[in-house]
Parts: sequence; C-alpha cells; structure tokens
Amino acid sequence: MRIESPPDCGIPGIGLRQIERSDRQAWFDYLRLPEVYERTSWNVQLSGDLDSLFDGFESIAPTSPRRLAVVDLASGRLAGTIGFHTVSDINRTAEIAYDLAPSHWGRGVASRLCDLVTRWSFDTYGFVRVQGTVLIGNDRSDRVLLRSGYQHEGLLRSFRMVRGRPGDFNMYSRLSTTSEV
Ligand SMILES: CC(C)(COP(=O)(O)OP(=O)(O)OC[C@H]1O[C@@H](n2cnc3c(N)ncnc32)[C@H](O)[C@@H]1OP(=O)(O)O)[C@@H](O)C(=O)NCCC(=O)NCCS
Repeated sequence: MRIESPPDCGIPGIGLRQIERSDRQAWFDYLRLPEVYERTSWNVQLSGDLDSLFDGFESIAPTSPRRLAVVDLASGRLAGTIGFHTVSDINRTAEIAYDLAPSHWGRGVASRLCDLVTRWSFDTYGFVRVQGTVLIGNDRSDRVLLRSGYQHEGLLRSFRMVRGRPGDFNMYSRLSTTSEV
C-alpha cells in the first residue's frame, strides 16, 4: 500500500517519502553489505529479488506491506527505509521493519524514525499494536526498539529462516494505548 502523506520527520537533513522502484538499486547496494544483512533474515542476491516487495508496496490490499524511503536531503541519496509488513486489518496489528545504510548509523536516525513512524501508524492506520522482531545478536536493533518505546516480550525460537537456517528472534511490541516514550 502506497504512503502518499508520510509524516514530517523533523530530523535535520533527513526526509521521508514513499519508496519507489527507482530506489531498487540504491537499496540493494547497501542491503548486500555483510554488516547490513548478517544480523537479519535478508537474503537478497540480486536487485531483482526486491521486485516482489515493490509489488506489495504498490498493492491496494488492506494487509499489504508499506515502506518509506529515508532520504539524505543533501545528496538526494537513499539513506534507509522504514515501514510495516505482516499487517492484520482484523487485529489492527503490524510488524515494523527498518534499515539504514552504514553511512547513517550512529546518529539516532533509526530510533527517532521508529518512534515517529510507530506513533504515526497508530493515528493513520488505527493499529493497536506494532511489533518488532530482532534476530538474536542484532544488538543495535534491540536498542532501536527499546529507545522507541517498545517492550521486550520474549524469545521466539526458530521463528524465521535466516538464509536457510531457523533463527531465534526477540519479540518487542508497542501499544497505541501506551504510545508515549
Ligand atoms: C538497525 C539499525 C537501523 C540501527 O542503526 P543505529 O545507527 O545503531 O541506530 P540509530 O540510528 O537509532 O542510532 C543509534 C546510535 O546513535 C547514537 N546517537 C547519536 N545521536 C543520537 C540521538 N539524537 N538519539 C539517539 N541516538 C543517538 C546512539 O548513542 C546510538 O548508539 P548506541 O546504540 O551504540 O548507543 C542499523 O544497524 C541497520 O540498518 N542494520 C542493518 C539492518 C537491520 O538490522 N535492520 C533491523 C532488523 S530487525
């Protein structure tokens, strides 16, 4: 589902807009870096492997995934993405997902966007719960969710395949009823 009116991000030098197929190569260029994919379930060999995701982002189905491009305004380059998948319109829940190019790590961009986009999703989509799942060992992402007002709920054993092997994931969630960090 396209996001025609993203939130104002309020981070100097950073903008948010709908991700487009023209972002595919720039997204792939950092997703293929070991430091980016190795603590996630990403398994992208070719830029074309992202095409099915874009099909979802363009779908009008109420359960379709949504994704924003995080843009470095000075260069115009793609600095990251953030959005939702595993959307349930019946339960009004979704899972958040995000990634940044390593050039933009360590500045608090992901944490501030995770907080902002989660709060925005409660108002915009009516989600009552947004969850985040983090592969064991992805400490940076654990800290992003905790800084963004998510609570740790437990460990999901063999929850998702990680390049052919079952991986254990930490489960976090943030509820609309406790939306203040
Ligand atoms: C997960 C990921 C987005 C986290 O990136 P990050 O740079 O660590 O996260 P942030 O942008 O929130 O930056 C936080 C860091 O910036 C620092 N920082 C600087 N200014 C800050 C500010 N104003 N606010 C918050 N943190 C700030 C913090 O100290 C923090 O470092 P620390 O965790 O070592 O204390 C990034 O590592 C990534 O893209 N990884 C690959 C993909 C991935 O794992 N995605 C998530 C799958 S679950």
